[in-house]
Amino acid sequence: MDRLPGFRDFYPEPLPHEDVWSADARQYIFDKWRSMARRYGFREYDGPPLEPLELFTTKSGEEIVGQLYNFVDKGERAISLRPEMTPTLARMVAAHERAYKKPIKWFAIPQLFRYERQQKGRLREHFQFNADIMGEKDPAADAELIALLIDTLRSLGLTAEDFVIRLSSRNAWHDFFTQNNGDPAKAYDFYQAIDKLERDEPEVKQKKLAAVGFSLEQVESFITAAMPTPELESILGNLRARSLGDYVQIDYRIIRGLAYYTGPVFEAFDRKGQLRAIAGGGRYDNLIKLLSGGKVDLPALGFGMGDVVLIELLKARGLLPAFDAQVEAFVLIEDETLRNDSLRLVSELRAAGLVTEYSLTPMKPDKQFKRAMELKAASTVRLERGPSGEVVAKVKNLKTREETISIPGEVAASLQKA
Ligand code: HAM
Repeated sequence: MDRLPGFRDFYPEPLPHEDVWSADARQYIFDKWRSMARRYGFREYDGPPLEPLELFTTKSGEEIVGQLYNFVDKGERAISLRPEMTPTLARMVAAHERAYKKPIKWFAIPQLFRYERQQKGRLREHFQFNADIMGEKDPAADAELIALLIDTLRSLGLTAEDFVIRLSSRNAWHDFFTQNNGDPAKAYDFYQAIDKLERDEPEVKQKKLAAVGFSLEQVESFITAAMPTPELESILGNLRARSLGDYVQIDYRIIRGLAYYTGPVFEAFDRKGQLRAIAGGGRYDNLIKLLSGGKVDLPALGFGMGDVVLIELLKARGLLPAFDAQVEAFVLIEDETLRNDSLRLVSELRAAGLVTEYSLTPMKPDKQFKRAMELKAASTVRLERGPSGEVVAKVKNLKTREETISIPGEVAASLQKA
């Protein structure tokens, strides 16, 4: 039985086949995501992987609705696997907003599902680091969020030569549209055409823009000028103060496909432009109000960073560490009359926090040693009976080959020190 197309199996390293994903690499990036989010004062939340279908059809926009993994459950409810986290977050915050001081800074690492056409960097499930700030209008919040995005990528070893944040604003496009007498009834089609500028053929672009009353030249010269709006200027100044200016550039080709964004928007890309977006986000000041039926009105902003493109990039740059089992102690049981003493020792070592292995069943000493070597154990520990019947522990550091003798009760402490 094969797995479904677009879904992944995660195996521990070393990987048995090129077609599978590394559970170790996944855990590595999850740890980096969590660690940086916490350093920025974000708290972790989670929600259900299944939601009422309506939550996603209300405001995410056509593209994502077309990709929903939805069905009718046994209770005749129209439901969907979550394609993104933002509507769930908006629902959760609206329900208990008063219990939290503003601004609310939350993060999550959900698995998301989109019935997409499979291609490089796009699967039917992915894990997405989400960080969002709710209850702050000032661009200082946008800058804080972008700084978190940059620092997260830096914590994985990526530099300003590897990635760039392309910063834009829907307000800039709104001003451009109205100042050039755009017809409000055609605003949606205009934004759609801008969103596809990098993907459409020149004739298609021209045609789409002409249909909403604009020329390609007009749009392109606005993009080339890249004049930051006051809010973007403020975000840039804030990031420069943190010495993060090199990571960001104004790029009005970014407008974001999701329908709910209202202000500054951004996407992170590899500098070489070979991969799809690493992350994307922006301000969505009306979504919470909309999803709460007008009860709660909170400005909000956030981003999502997927694991798929990120791992592709880290692999390409050689930035994934080698993942070993990291066994710290292998207890060799060469004398079966000492198995119970050895089991006690194994428990003590584990209680002391040391990754400890041993042979579950009797095995020849050389086989046990071979296993310890295969696991790249840092040390072996062997219990032996001394001349007067007392049990002693021989601890061997497998790197230095140095052997020390101690009483079993002291092994844990001495290994911890090492
Ligand atoms: P998004 O741009 O749809 O935004 O997704 C964010 C990131 O998730 C993308 O840049 C990409 O790395 C990854 N991603 C999306 N779809 C797939 C896929 N099918 N396969 C692999 N990776 C994928 C959102 O989802 C917004 N809700 C983010 C957000 C949070 N905005 C505000 N807060």
